[in-house]
Order: sequence, then C-alpha cells, then structure tokens
Amino acid sequence: MKQQSEFVGWGERSEPQQDDAGESIAGESALGFASLTPTTGGRKFRYRKNKNSGKMGPGPTPLAFYCYALTDEIAERHAFGFMFSQTLIREEDSVNLDTPFYLIDETRMIKYLERIKYVKDQSGAKSVLALKCFSNWCVFDLMRKYLDGTTSSGVYEARLGHEKFGGETHGYCVAYAREEVREMTEYCDKIIFNSINQFHAYKEMIGSIPVGLRINPQVGWSCHATSDPVRRYSRLGAPLSALPEDIGAELDGVMFHYNCDHEDFDGFSAHLNTIENNFGSLLQQVEWVSLGGGIAFTTDGYPLDDFCRVLKGFSRKFDVQVYLEPGEAAVTRSTSLVVTVLDIVHNERTTLIVDAGTEPHLLDVLTYGYAPTLEEGEILAWSDAEEFQEPEEGRVYVVCGRTCLAGDRFGIYRFDREIKIGDRLHFDNAGGYSMVKKNWFNGIKMPSIAHKRLDGAVNVIHVPTYEDYLLGKQNSCAALAPRA
Ligand SMILES: Cc1ncc(COP(=O)(O)O)c(C=O)c1O
Repeated sequence: MKQQSEFVGWGERSEPQQDDAGESIAGESALGFASLTPTTGGRKFRYRKNKNSGKMGPGPTPLAFYCYALTDEIAERHAFGFMFSQTLIREEDSVNLDTPFYLIDETRMIKYLERIKYVKDQSGAKSVLALKCFSNWCVFDLMRKYLDGTTSSGVYEARLGHEKFGGETHGYCVAYAREEVREMTEYCDKIIFNSINQFHAYKEMIGSIPVGLRINPQVGWSCHATSDPVRRYSRLGAPLSALPEDIGAELDGVMFHYNCDHEDFDGFSAHLNTIENNFGSLLQQVEWVSLGGGIAFTTDGYPLDDFCRVLKGFSRKFDVQVYLEPGEAAVTRSTSLVVTVLDIVHNERTTLIVDAGTEPHLLDVLTYGYAPTLEEGEILAWSDAEEFQEPEEGRVYVVCGRTCLAGDRFGIYRFDREIKIGDRLHFDNAGGYSMVKKNWFNGIKMPSIAHKRLDGAVNVIHVPTYEDYLLGKQNSCAALAPRA
C-alpha cells in the first residue's frame, strides 16, 4: 500500500493518544502515547530523526510514530517528542486497503449536506444530526459547517455531540434513568422527554435548560412496522389523549418524529396539516418544534423549494423555530462497504460469499428485509420469495455474507460480467445505521473505517484488530463491589 504521511502533532509518552481529526492514529501508534494537545499549532518545529543525527528540516514523516528531537526555532528550545502521522492513502490507492472496510466519502456526502444547508437558508429550519444513525466523528469537521448541531438518543451520544460536534446539542431518550438526566444537563441545551411520566418526574432536575416533550401525532409514514414511530400502541411520544390540557404552558418545545425514509412530499405536507389542526393551540405556546428525522428531503428529485415553503409557513404561523433531525438524509450514499468475494458456491443458484456479513455489518438488511444497492450489480430481489424475471443477459448471483446465519444474504443481483474469487464489491449506501450497529458476531473481522476527504486523500481511521475483539468480549474482569 502506498502511503503518504502528514504531521499531526507531538507529545510525550503519557496517556492513550488520539488525533484531533479522527478516532485514533493508525496502527500501533495509537497505543500508549501522549495526547496531541501540544500540536504544532503555528509554532515551528524542525525535527531530526535521532538526537545527534544532524538530519533536520521539514519533510515527510514515516507511517506511525518515531522519536524525534524537536527544535523550537523561535525559543531555540529542544524537546524530545514522538512525532505522529496519520496514514493517508492516495485516492487511487484507496482500494488497496484490506477489505472489508467502510469508506466514508466526503466528496459524496457534500451534495446532501448542501441540500440541508439550502433548506436552512430558504426556510429558517435548522438541522441537527441524529447521531443514532451516524456518529463517525472523523467527518464532523465537515458536517458542522452544514448542520447546527446534533441530537441524541442517550447520554453517550449527547456527550459525543457536545464534545466532538458542538453547536446545539439536543438530548432525547426513550426513557432516562434518573442519574442520566443529571448527566444530560452537562451536555445538552435542550432536553426532550418521551412521556408525561418522565417529564413530571425529572423536569425539576434540568433546571433552566429548555424542556421539550415528544408527541406522537398518530399520523406519519414508514415502509416497515419495525421503524414506524406512530404504529399502533407506539411507546414513542405522548399521544394527544395523554396530554394534560395545560401542558403547553410548561413546555419550551415539542418534538414530533413520525416518519422513516419518507420520500413523498405531498404525504409529508398532508401530515403536517393534520399536526397543525390537532395541536394548534399547543404549537402557539412553544418556542421550537422539531419535526424529527425520517424525511428523505435530500434525495434526488425531492421538491426542496416546496418543502422549504411549507416549513417556512409552519414556522411563521406558530412563531416557532423549526428543527429537522436528519440521520439518513445527511449521510445518504456517502459511505460504501467494500468487500471481497472469498468463495463461489452453487446450489441451484450461484452464490458469492463475501468477507462481511449482514448481521454484523449491515444489520438493517435483515431487520427490514431489503437488498442494499451494489455498485457492480442490479438488484433483482432480496428473498427467494420475491418473484423476478430472470434476466436475458448478464449473470445472476446471490450475494451472501460469511457468518453462520443461513439467511446471511445481501440479495440477488444481476451483474454484467462474471464475478471471480478475489473481486471487490461495493455496497454504496452503507452510511446510515451500519457502523453504529456493527458487532463481532462470529468473531469475523470487523470492517476497517476509512475516510476520504474532500481533497481526495483517504485517511485510515481504524483498522480493527484481535485486541479490539478481546475488548469487546471482556468488559470487565473486576469484581463489582456490593452496592452500599
Ligand atoms: C427521534 C429521532 N430523530 C431522528 C431520527 C433520524 O431518522 P432518520 O435517520 O430516518 O432521518 C430518528 C430515527 O430513528 C429518531 O428516532
């Protein structure tokens, strides 16, 4: 693999080290070395490889870290430090990273981020990234230019949003434990409760932090009951019948999350009308309204100007700040899961076995029963039960994972060409709800994560190892002291 290195800072041996842009420095350099807080930051250091080597001056650093004698040019000080470099792979070489890996591609993400910003500019609606969908903070430097902050599903996401993204941090959780509410107050500038019970139990604890309630508007859309927030008996948000009459006076805002992958603008608009009619007096009393996520407004062909017009009208009518909580809409088509064909077997159909799995690496394929798009092939079906016309041209393959699960299958695809063992395949829309859910099922190699920047350089963020697997298996060896 060709590598190019970039100086990112130096430090002395002390704590585990992380870079300030991504997760950790690639390879062994991540282990046991100093935080990079004292980065070059404008101070000019020249370096030489060995204390007395006499080799000084700027130049490319090798992969990982080396011990250098650093010379502060200004103060004429000398310091020993460890020089770190991130592994940067030139664009054309990115395919040489061992599979499986997720490639988060800023050059593909930008188009969708620009649409999010456009909606804000045209309608005034702010967007906060739903971290439950995507929380790879290596891309936050880019994303925060287009979104106003983050929203969370619990304490860790709230903290991640606060510490790594910045801007507004909205806190929401389906059910908080008491001690978590206190922790949320450290990170959040809005806290949203899911039920009247929790609102009453904890509203005093959050003091002056603006408080919201999630409401189930009992209209909405999802392609699947599992992800339908307004399904019958839904626990997500208080329905109209559960709302005390005077609740509006106690709230700063409300959140309606009532869609999933909803691409139909007319449907969205009709539901919003119903919300206006059913919750009008409450909406008059609050300062902000989040319309949640699940609105596929960044999809090609979505009538963005109509969407902006409706959002702006809603905001004006009730004099509220509107928020959107895009997850999938922010990372659509931004990320590929790149895999290699390990084996080809035949049992009535020819099956490609790749070096990843649906359950550990693209879980939604199983949860929702769909075939993910594949750069090299055309989807024919997901399950055997689906009927499809056998294509006259090309080759049909079932693409399967390598876990023991009999149903570990991505789908049935038509390819233009014959696929061979060793070929690479790209699932090209693998950003949302994949990396946040990945797991060590079967102990198979977790995909690496690579990050392609706008300038085309690819930064290897993490290459999982057996040690990661061990950590994931062994949470703590320490005996728990009995509770007092
Ligand atoms: C409260 C809330 N907001 C936002 C989202 C993000 O939705 P999506 O990724 O479909 O845009 C979700 C997804 O479940 C959610 O539950």
